[in-house]
Amino acid sequence: MNLAVVGTGYVGLVAGTCFAESGNDVTCIDIDESKILLLKSGQVPIYEPGLEEMVRRNVAEQRLSFSTDLDGAVKNSSIVFIAVGTPQGPDGDANLDHVRATAKSIAKAMDGFRIIVTKSTVPVGTADQITRWVTEETAHPFAVVSNPEFLKEGAAVEDFMKPDRVVLGGDNAEAIEAVKELYEPFVRTGNSILVMDSRSAEMSKYAANAMLATKISFINEISRLCETKGADVGEVRRAIALDRRIGPHFIFPGVGYGGSCFPKDIRAMISMGRDEPEMVLLKAVEQVNERQKRILIEKVHRHFGADLAGLTFAIWGLAFKPRTDDMRDAPSITVIESLLNGGAKVQAFDPEATDEAKKIFGDRIHYTSRNYEALAGAAALLVLTEWNEFRRPDFLRIKQLLKNPVIFDGRNLYDPGDIRKLGFHYYSIGRSDG
Ligand SMILES: NC(=O)c1ccc[n+]([C@@H]2O[C@H](COP(=O)([O-])OP(=O)(O)OC[C@H]3O[C@@H](n4cnc5c(N)ncnc54)[C@H](O)[C@@H]3O)[C@@H](O)[C@H]2O)c1
Repeated sequence: MNLAVVGTGYVGLVAGTCFAESGNDVTCIDIDESKILLLKSGQVPIYEPGLEEMVRRNVAEQRLSFSTDLDGAVKNSSIVFIAVGTPQGPDGDANLDHVRATAKSIAKAMDGFRIIVTKSTVPVGTADQITRWVTEETAHPFAVVSNPEFLKEGAAVEDFMKPDRVVLGGDNAEAIEAVKELYEPFVRTGNSILVMDSRSAEMSKYAANAMLATKISFINEISRLCETKGADVGEVRRAIALDRRIGPHFIFPGVGYGGSCFPKDIRAMISMGRDEPEMVLLKAVEQVNERQKRILIEKVHRHFGADLAGLTFAIWGLAFKPRTDDMRDAPSITVIESLLNGGAKVQAFDPEATDEAKKIFGDRIHYTSRNYEALAGAAALLVLTEWNEFRRPDFLRIKQLLKNPVIFDGRNLYDPGDIRKLGFHYYSIGRSDG
């Protein structure tokens, strides 16, 4: 099947590549010429495990290509995916400018029936809106299918190739069947393809993200209470995780959620309920998260005082989570900006996100190419992302390199007893800082 994917970002590039991997001929389209040039030259603009190799293979086997020519790709494809960004608008609602521009461009390029599949995360009712936009531009027949994407960065290829479920929304049975066939190779182990109306499909994506963000804010709030009451959130987590109604996933305390989805999708949901019903729970989820992003800074000030001038801090981890280079809404931004505002200097290391971090901090912080280099002469180490390579470091080396043996662990990677025996002041989340 000939497919076009419009928007070659984290979602579009992964989806397009995985569809090519299962034998389709896919053209990935983007308006960003530099991105398309980079991809054409064989380079992958984002870090995502397993993606580069899969892109190379499918390009070599001529099933995957990249272009800025949306018109040509639409004419050559029977199914066109919209995978452009839906960033946060000024009032918190999802900004649909890219979706509207894409829908209208697709419509203008159509020369016959097309299936338009919405993969971007869009507010409930957007499929109907897309239908209106397309109708304004073309008399050709078409069908809109809502197909929200549930992949997570850091395991995007794996998630796409083995989805927990695929959700398809729409009322054109033939179009749904055609898109369903595309997904059949990925659900061979029996996972479901759920067919529903488009509004329920659109809502499913937001509801999933809202549930996940709620779990994170829940355990973060519990961790705060643990600290004030002298309990250990690690023990509490273990105890509740064994309850089958709760389970072990997504209840790790930390420095708050970030990334390109949870923050903006929670705000979009709050915005969707602006008139009625007020999203009381989600407002609290967001409030807890904003507070949580400052928890390490509060501990830094408690240790070093209000004035951080003259101090340098080492940061391990900039990306909002491991195995990605994505810095969008990363908690590290709040932490680093607060350190800089307090007069401190920052030396940071991340295995993959340095280039993205440079777009945010420029030369206001110093970047190192090895984790230990960030420690030289620093007053303390702050761990912000749980990359695997930070889990078992050489603590004696850390102690030698730091000016003071102080660690602020935003991901609870280390055992407080062990690390204090080595002579460190150790601060973590939801465990006694004694
Ligand atoms: N990143 C994730 O983990 C994830 C997961 C599930 C769903 N989503 C959703 O998928 C959508 C895309 O997210 P992303 O992270 O891939 O975004 P992204 O910013 O990485 O990629 C979007 C791409 O669309 C391109 N684009 C914008 N307007 C265009 C146009 N008119 N024509 C062609 N290309 C255009 C941009 O240049 C960019 O390359 C969003 O709605 C997001 O909420 C993201």
